[in-house]
Amino acid sequence: MPGEEKHGFSVTAMLSDLFWRSPCRSISWLAGGFEVGRSTINHRVLGTELFRKTCREIEMSDIMRHYDDFLAPHYSWMVDLSLTDKIAEQQSLPAMLGLPGAVRGFAVDLGSGPGYQSFALANMGYEAVITIDTSRFLLDELEAARGPAPVKAVHADLRAFSKFVTPSGADAIVCMGDTLTHLETRADVTKLFQDAFEHLAPEGRVVLTFRDLLTELKGLDRFLPIRADDGRIMTCVLDFEPDTVVVNDLVHVRDGQTWTFQKSRPRLWL
Ligand SMILES: C[S@@+](CC[C@H](N)C(=O)[O-])C[C@H]1O[C@@H](n2cnc3c(N)ncnc32)[C@H](O)[C@@H]1O
Repeated sequence: MPGEEKHGFSVTAMLSDLFWRSPCRSISWLAGGFEVGRSTINHRVLGTELFRKTCREIEMSDIMRHYDDFLAPHYSWMVDLSLTDKIAEQQSLPAMLGLPGAVRGFAVDLGSGPGYQSFALANMGYEAVITIDTSRFLLDELEAARGPAPVKAVHADLRAFSKFVTPSGADAIVCMGDTLTHLETRADVTKLFQDAFEHLAPEGRVVLTFRDLLTELKGLDRFLPIRADDGRIMTCVLDFEPDTVVVNDLVHVRDGQTWTFQKSRPRLWL
């Protein structure tokens, strides 16, 4: 939707990332647990009951099962960069640099995984980052690495992120690293954009990054070596369909002298 006018506000795209300005005025937020030294932020702690309720409400999708039953323990290994290097990479993306210079305030990371963008946002100066993911395993990794960073992990479906942010409450909302294509329907994506629009503060921005899957790979080009070392080998085979790409993830894991084979095939939306 580059350049598209929405309610009189411009929607512009930079590289593959979308920055979405909100017409909203006040700055406030609901979820938290941080000390933020900014009087314009209305800071309230997320109640334990609400948090428990949200966890119970996660309705498992195929993609969530893919992470729970297969990918999560391989994810950081697959990325093949140290946490520090991955955070630096995410921080230097033009999309991230497109966020306002003197950054303060509250950011939301949707589909955070182990938190590369959450930690990048904290490094950029955001005073509080709420990070939402359905993978308990990956959120545990994030929490183990968190240290003093003002990052709060929430185990929830990102499609319900508006439960944790008051209207006009977020200075930045990011959904990066292919998470967007994990959503089950186009209606989910549309609803996410609408919710983001409603929950951004004035001058707030949405940053989306995702791989361009529109160029179909054919024949042997569909077989992608992801990573291999002494203990693990990962290969990915892509099946292109009219509106989706089926990702066949294949992993061999060494256990002493033997290798075990694991497989999973989630479907991503184009
Ligand atoms: C490809 S990973 C991206 C993680 C991270 N942003 C990165 O760049 O490495 C997609 C993440 O989205 C999460 N995810 C997928 N569907 C979700 C949903 N509906 N709600 C919350 N998280 C979801 C997965 O658990 C996974 O951590």
